[in-house]
Amino acid sequence: MDVQTLILGAGAAGMMCAAFAGADVLVVDHAKAPGEKIRISGGGRCNFTNMGIEPERFLSRNPHFAKSALSRYTQWDFLGLVQQHGIAWHEKTLGQLFCDGKATQIVEMLRSEMGEARLWLSTTVDEVGHDGAGFRVRLTREGRVVDVSARNLVLATGGLSIPKMGATGLAYRVARQFGHALVETRPGLVPFTFSGTVLDRLQALAGVATPARVRAGGAAFDEALLFTHRGLSGPAVLQASSYWTEGNPVALDLDPSGALLPALKDARSREGRKAPATHLAAHLPQRLAAALIPDGTPPRLADCSDAVLEGIVAGLRDWRLTPAGTEGYRTAEVTLGGIDTDGLSSKTMESRHLTGLFAIGEAVDVTGWLGGYNFQWAWSSGWAAGTAIAAR
Ligand code: FDA
Repeated sequence: MDVQTLILGAGAAGMMCAAFAGADVLVVDHAKAPGEKIRISGGGRCNFTNMGIEPERFLSRNPHFAKSALSRYTQWDFLGLVQQHGIAWHEKTLGQLFCDGKATQIVEMLRSEMGEARLWLSTTVDEVGHDGAGFRVRLTREGRVVDVSARNLVLATGGLSIPKMGATGLAYRVARQFGHALVETRPGLVPFTFSGTVLDRLQALAGVATPARVRAGGAAFDEALLFTHRGLSGPAVLQASSYWTEGNPVALDLDPSGALLPALKDARSREGRKAPATHLAAHLPQRLAAALIPDGTPPRLADCSDAVLEGIVAGLRDWRLTPAGTEGYRTAEVTLGGIDTDGLSSKTMESRHLTGLFAIGEAVDVTGWLGGYNFQWAWSSGWAAGTAIAAR
């Protein structure tokens, strides 16, 4: 069969592209339902964009690449679409916009925006080729082999995160087949794991959450930190993980406001008979406070010199830990790296090597921060490719 445009992947980017790509579009996906990651995102409420979208909040080997698409289809454009569909939303924190109701509203919205585009689910992509005139793609649908010819082929199968949900490296393989370079992939927005005595210490705190500033690879994030049975998680840690490289430490500041040292000194003059951990527990979760008092600290705050208090606070303001690794693609929210942007037009997402080939969404080497940034990249890049296809 012949189609104008074949989109591989009915996720966030693929559906968005289909909505704008004009007539005669076929979208295929091996999953049973479209937009499965949208459905489970944001705890089932989909953090669909962020009011603070800025190119600096995206990681890529080429930090300029995302600018064009993000500025031409913005968070306000997507919010407009959400409102047009009567979907109620709210800002949770840090500019993050969520549905008031279920995330499936966003899937339904995109499905309806796709209009006449056909959607084939439970369909596998067996072979992709190009015969000089157009793309030839062999699919298997309901046990039957179907050969599809298409003028445009859009790679929208995402990254490697959460293989249990059907993530595959298909977009990377096809891109490479047509001469595209890949930027090495690694899990992003992912919890850290630890080993040995550090892990013992962290495990003893499992379940404790506290506001913190977490630094890695030159970036710093002020959000919640969570101690887990495997190490560290929570938004601040997930954010820092995208900037972390193996073998390097992460630095935790458990008193980012810097209020603790003056507060302890003040408490010493008023309630010096109490234990230092008791005072610390006024500012930090109790279990964490107890664990942060070094052995040999005087039992009464009154007996702690300035140097002792400064030592305690310095330790918790610059607590350096070297992760053994991360939880990997099993739990990573995104995949860093991917199809090298050098081979793509930043305006249209079209291949510089082969006319009619497009790559969008997470498959491309553009990765956003936590908080709606990755969906916005899927919307913006999907829109850029879709409108370019419709204009051909
Ligand atoms: P996406 O992964 O959405 O879609 C790819 C599609 O291709 C899938 O439908 C898949 O089945 C299909 N596919 C893959 N391989 C195939 C093959 N070989 N053959 C056929 N089809 C194939 N971001 C955000 O901004 N806000 C949030 O709240 C969240 N929350 C969140 C929670 C969790 C648990 C995860 C894992 C991720 C998030 N994200 C997020 C990230 C966000 O989900 C992600 O960046 C986008 O879904 C990427 O959109 P894509 O369309 O590129 O890929």
